[in-house]
Amino acid sequence: MSNSEETRVQHVSLPPDKVMHKLVSLAKRRGFVFPSSEIYGGLSSCFDYGPLGSEMKKNIKDLWWNAMTRRHANIVGIDASIMMNPTVWEASGHVASFNDPMIDDRTTKRRYRADHLIENHIEKLRREGKTDKAAAVLAVYEAAAGSPDPNRALHELIVAEAIKAPDTGSGDWTEVRQFNLMFQCNMGAVADTSGIVYLRPETAQGIFVNFHNVREASRMKVPFGIAQIGKAFRNEIVKGNFIFRMVEFEQMEMQYFVKPGTQLEAFEAWRQERFSWYVEELGINAGKLHWYKHDKLAHYADLAYDIKFEFPFGIEEIEGIHSRTDFDLSQHQQYSGKNMEYVDQTTNERYTPYVVETSSGSDRLFLALLSDAYSEDVVDGEPRVMLKLSPKVAPVKAAILPLMKKGEMGEKAGMLRDELSRAFLVQYDDAASIGKRYRRQDEIGTPFCITVDHQSIEDQSVTVRFRDTAAQERIDMSKAKEFLAAKLV
Ligand code: GAP
Repeated sequence: MSNSEETRVQHVSLPPDKVMHKLVSLAKRRGFVFPSSEIYGGLSSCFDYGPLGSEMKKNIKDLWWNAMTRRHANIVGIDASIMMNPTVWEASGHVASFNDPMIDDRTTKRRYRADHLIENHIEKLRREGKTDKAAAVLAVYEAAAGSPDPNRALHELIVAEAIKAPDTGSGDWTEVRQFNLMFQCNMGAVADTSGIVYLRPETAQGIFVNFHNVREASRMKVPFGIAQIGKAFRNEIVKGNFIFRMVEFEQMEMQYFVKPGTQLEAFEAWRQERFSWYVEELGINAGKLHWYKHDKLAHYADLAYDIKFEFPFGIEEIEGIHSRTDFDLSQHQQYSGKNMEYVDQTTNERYTPYVVETSSGSDRLFLALLSDAYSEDVVDGEPRVMLKLSPKVAPVKAAILPLMKKGEMGEKAGMLRDELSRAFLVQYDDAASIGKRYRRQDEIGTPFCITVDHQSIEDQSVTVRFRDTAAQERIDMSKAKEFLAAKLV
């Protein structure tokens, strides 16, 4: 980039608390994300993806699918049903313990996560420099989990610390009770407990129960993986932050089955690969990604890390990479009575495979990509809003802009659109000044604007304008498809 190009673009720095508000508004205005059933007042924590949002989300899922299945000869994909035999969820432990501890405020009738109230209180004490007090509260909190009545212990701690509701300041607390996050529905005509089925709270169990089906059908040998993208449902009481925490969301999960004893090596390889995917494939700013190692492990896990992202509202998980031992397959063996072991054909060894899981949410990732990409700057003295999305993620790959609507320019631009749209999502725009048309595309993250002008009629060339630098390059119109294809590998 030349010096003159650099000075054409001046970055504007934005306080993080302003970004979410601007993002939500842009997402609706430009058709990325709408509130669900908005004309009826919406439904809490449910959202619809609009024309551009659904394209962008599809790009994210295609990139994940290709990275996990096409690039690994030993990973295949499935698409399991959302509703499964209810015993699946007894075996997985979700019926007994997929719970959040909830507490209600009698005065305001609002409901809160008891654990969040205490954790936020400890954080507040730390921020105020009361570290000894924070440590003492933490010790009581940790001991609560092992006490004979954990709900009572949490309630007593909240009352003893006089913890108030963060939004209302009230603290007229009920007892703590466990609230199961699975949605129940009734299958069949009879509305009694015999017909209860659950909407899956994670996609993983559809993979575990299909372990032998997939292994046999695809002639897989351990180590091998099964990948899946699909909807999951959780009756989250604490919602918010736009699409960050929803009740209906989509997961992209892969379970990698390995020989016991080799899981930590596989875990490390997946940890590296998954982190690189965010940076190299999606173009996320590596400085905004963080590792979080779980100190307190679930009883079935022997190692667990999360990849967290710096959202405008805080550093939060986007993917979990967990070494889950043989817990899931063993549980399904016990509850189904079917043998879930694997027999190594060359050594005749028989074992229940261990599992390394990579579990990411496409909606959360969508939000991470939007917030990473949102920027405001000034180009040639004109302010603009831009989504600095990587060309692979951007919904529209190129805009075709004839300088004039009619005559040869319009015809040539139309032909170019027809040719490019066979391979890429492109937008044709001949309304308003060229500057306005650039701004419209910058705001939705279109990486390239291709302008058909007077010179195009004489020498069949077009101008490619690059979103981030506003720099321009002249290329042969017949090379436009090749040019775009090269930017998308
Ligand atoms: N099978 C493991 C599992 O489900 P998880 O940490 O509960 O693990 C994995 O979920 C990912 O799913 C999270 O990192 C997040 O990206 C996404 N996710 C979980 N709950 C979500 C919610 N309520 N809304 C949106 N995404 C969610």
